[in-house]
Amino acid sequence: MASGDDVTSFDPRRVRADIPQLNRVINDRSITYLDTASTSLQPRAVLEAMTRYYELRHANVHRAVYQTAEEATAAYEGARDAVAGFINAPGGSGEIVFTKNVTESFNLLAKSWGAANLGPGDVVLVSEMEHHANIVPWFQLRETTGVEVRFIPVTDDFRLDLSDIDALMKDVKLLSVTGMSNVLGTITPVRELARLAHRHGALIAVDGAQSVAHAPTDVVDLDVDFLLFTGHKMLGPTGIGVFWTREAILADMPPFLGGGGMIADVRTDGYTPASGPTRFEAGTPPIAEAVGLGAAVRYLEGLGMANIVFHEHALTGDALTRLELEFQGRVRIIGPPDTTARGGVISLDVDGVHPHDVAQVLDQFGVCVRPGHHCAKPLMRRFGLAATVRASFGPYSLAGDTDVLIEGLAHAVKMFG
Ligand code: ALA
Repeated sequence: MASGDDVTSFDPRRVRADIPQLNRVINDRSITYLDTASTSLQPRAVLEAMTRYYELRHANVHRAVYQTAEEATAAYEGARDAVAGFINAPGGSGEIVFTKNVTESFNLLAKSWGAANLGPGDVVLVSEMEHHANIVPWFQLRETTGVEVRFIPVTDDFRLDLSDIDALMKDVKLLSVTGMSNVLGTITPVRELARLAHRHGALIAVDGAQSVAHAPTDVVDLDVDFLLFTGHKMLGPTGIGVFWTREAILADMPPFLGGGGMIADVRTDGYTPASGPTRFEAGTPPIAEAVGLGAAVRYLEGLGMANIVFHEHALTGDALTRLELEFQGRVRIIGPPDTTARGGVISLDVDGVHPHDVAQVLDQFGVCVRPGHHCAKPLMRRFGLAATVRASFGPYSLAGDTDVLIEGLAHAVKMFG
């Protein structure tokens, strides 16, 4: 357990008090923020760390020897250490590459590792519940290498359909799956999938965008090969993502973006790439964002990841029960109906009402939700939907948020019903 893991001391109200944006009043109502799956809100600790960096020690990293430049480099590398500790990277910070977001992390995986290791006859196995970030780069790789992209189906009860998985694994070199669906809230059996992939001689990549901020993540315990996630969904800033893989794999990956910072040498006849994570960090990196991400990691560790799981699990169970009771089927939950292997992402289909209309009505109640296909069109097609309206929880969410959600939904149902 992280230092903050003490259920008796965790208080979501204190987390709320740390988030300036939650003080805003819109349409005469306080904000009810239920869009953490899209992007989380930042506590003051994160904002202040970034401001302090800009006010006192802004300089470029890895380039100069003056005092503030040394401090900036130490802050940037300190964030890498914090992230490595947060996911228990066995090789430490040398395995953490900073990217722009999880989409760029997937592009790095596909265009560097994938292009170097996959070809005709090889298969990348993803699932029907993936975000486009874990689909489109593979289709792009298919165009250039001839690799096959195959999909694990999703069952009618919103789980990965593993009934024929050994057949699906034929010729698979990489199994690339989400840790938690950004639409359904389904938590996938990552440890079991890792065992399966390795038994078939494949590697496994996990999209941690929705899972890393909501449950403890230990890459050694999970025995995964790649973990990709993003700062802004874990109380950090936008503009910074993370790509983790084991040192031995990283060492063999060719650079993806070329330019300054990622080289050991450049001559008129060619170049030699740097070793380690900097090989993949061309140009001036997102320094302030890394500092913010480091602060977010420390903040989450202070709350205790086990406390966050406990809190969000309770909120989700309560919300699922109340939505079912209140609307008796008029509002359908697109995802597992209970909290078994599911997180706090709740997609809704309001009978006869377009998700955008629902979201607009909810906005009148100060409720922030995301309507749309959630960048998961294959999953939407699987369930015959164009869109859903999605509510999602974070460590600052309260049961009172569900009250307002239900109040707004009841209004939408009445208005359009
Ligand atoms: N990937 C983010 C979401 O699911 C933006 O909303």
